[in-house]
Amino acid sequence: MQSTQLQITGSAARPTFHLQTFQLADPTPGEVQIQMQATSVNPIDTKRAQGYGKRVLGIKGAGKFPLAMGNDIVGTVSALGRNVTRLKIGDHVFGLKAASAFGTHATHVNAKAKFLRPVPAGVSAAELAALPYSFTTMMLALKGAGLNQNTARGSSVLVIGAAGGLGQLALQVLSGWDALVTAVCETATVELCQSLGASEIIDRFKTKVRDLAPRFDAVLNFAAWDDDEFLASRLRHGALGHATTVHPLLANFDRLGWIGGGLQTIKDKRRVASAGKKASGSSRYAWTVFSPNEEALDVLADGLTKGRFKLPIGLTVPLSEGEKAFVHVSEGRVGRAVLMCQASGNTA
Ligand SMILES: NC(=O)c1ccc[n+]([C@@H]2O[C@H](COP(=O)([O-])OP(=O)(O)OC[C@H]3O[C@@H](n4cnc5c(N)ncnc54)[C@H](OP(=O)(O)O)[C@@H]3O)[C@@H](O)[C@H]2O)c1
Repeated sequence: MQSTQLQITGSAARPTFHLQTFQLADPTPGEVQIQMQATSVNPIDTKRAQGYGKRVLGIKGAGKFPLAMGNDIVGTVSALGRNVTRLKIGDHVFGLKAASAFGTHATHVNAKAKFLRPVPAGVSAAELAALPYSFTTMMLALKGAGLNQNTARGSSVLVIGAAGGLGQLALQVLSGWDALVTAVCETATVELCQSLGASEIIDRFKTKVRDLAPRFDAVLNFAAWDDDEFLASRLRHGALGHATTVHPLLANFDRLGWIGGGLQTIKDKRRVASAGKKASGSSRYAWTVFSPNEEALDVLADGLTKGRFKLPIGLTVPLSEGEKAFVHVSEGRVGRAVLMCQASGNTA
């Protein structure tokens, strides 16, 4: 089977894009081949295109250019590897693929069957393509902070970056779990955060996060590493914990090499963990790192069948115009950026 990838030819501040057709290998045991319908460009893709994470992701073959980015999958099963029993050719699926040189910005990909779920009725391919990667990372962050359906009920949760992709999804999940969410966002997104169930809004242009009292059961930082140590100190005594997706793990290794990066990472993490422990007595502090996760996909699939979980789409373009989607995301424009992967650009 031939696949056409949207390749980034080399890491650069202004990366260059190229459509490359190649022979896709047969799916290995446990994998299926997908004829891709839609995928998305996430903030991580734009950072990786500039060289971010090269050293660590290089372990998975995902650091050497040229390569295709992308983790989100919406498409149709077109071939089965051995030992795949729960999918058949022709199934419409959505899901995830871990970082590799063969990212999902392509017309065809191989992916592990266990990270695919049936496409729910009534959700468009574009809407679906924006969700799996962000939803999974968000769920891993909730878990890292000690939040689940039981612990979240009545808990006071501070969400920084609440109007971003991860933040909006966290608001949707946490309000469904009856948590009391304090959302930090900018003036233009106050109403959005209210509509997603936040019980308190901090407009970061009017109120300084630094004025917040230490009163939270959990903190989720989806916005800026520089604030992380201070945010840890906003936990109340006996709090659940704190998770951040904006930690410097990959950047440390890029910048300082394996040994220097490892030492710096231990230092950075200890510094924030000890601020959290001092405030709350809790040692639960997580640096969330995306990886495909079956439990998170099950929660997403279940919610979608009930009409829940959505992110606004700001741009939908064919794979051949993928550069526009990278620009949309790297400039922080409103809404997610979706790539339609087949030449016909079908949106069924
Ligand atoms: N570690 C991992 O495996 C992993 C996985 C997924 C995502 N991430 C990272 O997690 C972050 C969130 O992802 P996302 O998809 O939600 O990104 P996003 O959609 O770009 O949202 C980021 C949000 O953070 C806000 N923000 C940025 N800088 C801020 C600051 N200094 N103070 C307060 N708010 C600030 C932005 O607000 P404005 O719009 O006002 O700027 C935006 O609402 C990104 O940095 C992403 O790269 C990490």
